[in-house]
Amino acid sequence: MNIAVQPATAYSPEANATFEELDRRVNEVFRQVQEWRGWKMVSNPETRPEQLLALVREIFKSVCWYQAHTTEAGFHMFGRLPKNEIRLMQVLSAHKAEEAEHGLWAHEDHDKLSHVSGRRAPSDEGSASPATFAVAAVWWRMAQIEDPLGYLGAEYLFDGAPIALAQAEAERIRNFRMSELEAAE
Ligand SMILES: [Fe+2]
Repeated sequence: MNIAVQPATAYSPEANATFEELDRRVNEVFRQVQEWRGWKMVSNPETRPEQLLALVREIFKSVCWYQAHTTEAGFHMFGRLPKNEIRLMQVLSAHKAEEAEHGLWAHEDHDKLSHVSGRRAPSDEGSASPATFAVAAVWWRMAQIEDPLGYLGAEYLFDGAPIALAQAEAERIRNFRMSELEAAE
């Protein structure tokens, strides 16, 4: 399954081979996620709406904890590209800037689901969870040490995996009854 990039005849055989390899790796991550007990809970029709809401709130809180760090690491990583890669750095900068406020969106959505407003960001409340600390640490490790072209692979995973996960649950999400969710709160 080609996840984030549609094949185009304009791409070289080497580029298409790279896309295929990236898709294979993203699909492998997706397979691992499907084995995770949290995913089994999401896809279980017996799961109660309040449990789903609690999980989504935790996901938004996690995004608040790591997103600013991965954004800063991303800028650092592609800032290490060869300095004649002007066009590539322009494209990557624009894309990363568009994503910069996603942590703020996660904060807003977290508060909407919690029915609170005007309070501190969830990321300010206590230390980051070990998992979100690890996400930030991996990104900074990549940013400072690994080949900066690897940024594209990390971005491919972060942009492609959520699409695959959402598609897998699209029917269920479409059938969500907001009244049912609101009644759960
Ligand atoms: Fe992205």
